[in-house]
Amino acid sequence: MEDPSGLPLPRLRAAARGCRACDLWQNATQTVFGEGEPAARLLLVGEQPGDHEDREGRPFVGPSGALLDRALEEVGIARPDAYVTNAVKHFKWVPRGKRRLHQKPNAAEIGACAPWLEAEVAAVRPQLLVALGATAAQALFGRSFRVLAQRGQMLSTVLGLPGLGTVHPSSILRAPDEEAYRLAYQAFVKDLRVAATVISGG
Ligand code: URA
Repeated sequence: MEDPSGLPLPRLRAAARGCRACDLWQNATQTVFGEGEPAARLLLVGEQPGDHEDREGRPFVGPSGALLDRALEEVGIARPDAYVTNAVKHFKWVPRGKRRLHQKPNAAEIGACAPWLEAEVAAVRPQLLVALGATAAQALFGRSFRVLAQRGQMLSTVLGLPGLGTVHPSSILRAPDEEAYRLAYQAFVKDLRVAATVISGG
């Protein structure tokens, strides 16, 4: 496999199609690479593609993506103006009847995929990285990061750029009732507003 560091995004995307750095490619439909504005000021990192993303080959196109788009819009960021990717680029799942149940990627899988994320960050050179959820935060801030204690705070990432962590949109979708949903969504928007202020120079 070609060393991805230093390649432009179209070549990275093409090279990642054949990635066999861990075993997750075996059960996935395809590599889901990042997409968005190649010179975006904001680069958002999720965990891994879900069922919808695996089938479509694009990040955050399912229910989590819809919630993310709505929250971004509320803070004045249009999704196409950002670059959106995942820490792990193949869908990890186990069968449950007819369903494909999401499984959390482990540290080895996150590590195997890290060169792609590093290369995307190097190609886009955003002003700010945003980790959506614990897996992405682990990839950007290391294993000691605690989402609930450190969310919304400006920190430095292991990739040498500033970053901020927040919850994963799917955790909001799992809220047990309407009130919990409303509060979780508001807190998510608040974190994204910090990001929007940083990239607008405020
Ligand atoms: N969840 C993620 O972390 N990434 C996606 O692309 C979709 C759902």
